[in-house]
Amino acid sequence: MAVRPIVRLGHPALRTPAEPLTAEQLATPGVQALIDDLFDTMIEAGGVGLAAPQVDEPVQLFVYLAVDARGEQQAEPQRRVLVNPMLEPLGGELIYDWEGCLSIPDLRGLVPRHPEVRVHALDRHGERLTFRAEGYEARIVQHEFDHLNGVVFLDRMRDLHSLAFSAEWEAYMVAADDEAAVG
Ligand code: NI
Repeated sequence: MAVRPIVRLGHPALRTPAEPLTAEQLATPGVQALIDDLFDTMIEAGGVGLAAPQVDEPVQLFVYLAVDARGEQQAEPQRRVLVNPMLEPLGGELIYDWEGCLSIPDLRGLVPRHPEVRVHALDRHGERLTFRAEGYEARIVQHEFDHLNGVVFLDRMRDLHSLAFSAEWEAYMVAADDEAAVG
């Protein structure tokens, strides 16, 4: 396992749609190592999600930590791996909340997201997963899913008035106990 370099905005990997993985590709040591490296890299960087294109691997795969940053933080965040994911919005008005991105360091902004999505994907062993994600988890999943399609959170902002550097964001714009979903 290893920490890999995270590419930053301007690198073409962030704007290139990723390719789905076949069952054979997913089972290879190279892709299994990529999954482990994504976790190592995400944790080292202090994020809660990381998509393969962010380490210049153009495949439909991302990892995230299923934590609830709104109070019910689990002692042991669950590590989730989603391969070839599809998202199905489950209705409800879009909700605005703070996001940041490991590929766009030091910026925070308010991003509208679906409050709840149904996720269809494979796990790291190629088993089918279907589950509902809501709230903070739904936000992380939508942020990482966008990375598989060459989309970053700045593209999703309705306007840029809330865009702020982290230090100013903490000083002036957000409650002390609030967190941004950074992936
Ligand atoms: Ni990101």
